[in-house]
Amino acid sequence: MPRLAILSAGGDCPGINAVIRAVVRTANQQGWEVVGIRNGYRGAVENDYIVLGPNEIAGLLPRGGTMLGTDNRYDPASFPVEEDGRIVRKDMSAQVMANLEKLGVEGLIAIGGDGTMAVTRGLAERVGLKAICVPKTIDNDLPSTDQTFGFDTAVQTATDALDKLHTTAESHHRVMVLEVMGRYAGWIALYTGIAGGADVILIPEIPWDPDVVAQTILERRARGRMFSIVVVAEGALTPEGERVVQRTVPDSHEQVRLGGIGQVVGELIEEKTGIETRVTVLGHIQRGGSPSPYDRLLATQLGAYAAQLALEGKYGQLVALRQGKIQAVPLDQVETGIRTVPVDGPEVMAARAIGISFGDR
Ligand code: F6P
Repeated sequence: MPRLAILSAGGDCPGINAVIRAVVRTANQQGWEVVGIRNGYRGAVENDYIVLGPNEIAGLLPRGGTMLGTDNRYDPASFPVEEDGRIVRKDMSAQVMANLEKLGVEGLIAIGGDGTMAVTRGLAERVGLKAICVPKTIDNDLPSTDQTFGFDTAVQTATDALDKLHTTAESHHRVMVLEVMGRYAGWIALYTGIAGGADVILIPEIPWDPDVVAQTILERRARGRMFSIVVVAEGALTPEGERVVQRTVPDSHEQVRLGGIGQVVGELIEEKTGIETRVTVLGHIQRGGSPSPYDRLLATQLGAYAAQLALEGKYGQLVALRQGKIQAVPLDQVETGIRTVPVDGPEVMAARAIGISFGDR
């Protein structure tokens, strides 16, 4: 039976399991077997795998996370290996190819973000890996696709949190600041802020002034609205134009982990308004849980299409959602970098029209 391999790498997000299920079902329907590589490219080097059949994927659709496990620190091009009691970095790309060949695998479907795409492209160029990439991230910041699966679920989770913060903010006449994820793009903050009825949304794309934020809150008070809700993207800059970094992760493709801007915003608001302010950092809750119906649908479409391309031997592609259609984009034409929020885009315009402040003048 011909075989395909699949792996997930980088940060997890709701919907990865739906892709795995769609790939396995599409392949099985056409007489192919799928091998799941565990823990991203680490498993590809270490030959850690599981054969995925109907029993392995049963009940997978509503499950968050990834049944294959993931890792965002391993690139076969610079893989940590123990030698004479020391850890040295070696190019293990040929090992990946040898392992796949041993498994009788014709090609690989790699589910991941920008880091995984870069690693996959590198393997294709260096050792001729035949691969198809499926983009994923809750951040929705990949330039190659109009929306990533995982984003809708993250926004749903964050909006639910904002609804809950609303009730306690109102009772205590407080300001509530919610810090959400999103790396260097403000998509999660923007969508959550609009969907959850925030008064102020602070995103990396729009520089903000604490006096403007304070004025918005005080004007609401003057109108008898005694509480306010502020959503801050983790990548929003401080008034001095700096990012707030929580920690760095050596060996990771993206070493900086953002976090802490919510506290900065909360303290400035309290200082400038005199109103009691509380800060909530939502964190990894945004990455967990069951995927929304939208994410299940998008993930299933991407998975089925990726499998179809692989079965036809059309490798070297990324599958993407573009203008409402699932399409293939050649891997060497995939844009790199971050898709940020357009500051004059329809969502920002609608938010401004209904009186949401972005803290700018
Ligand atoms: O890219 C997804 C994401 O959740 C970002 O929103 C966040 O900044 C980062 O990953 C957190 O990474 P980690 O799981 O390594 O803490």
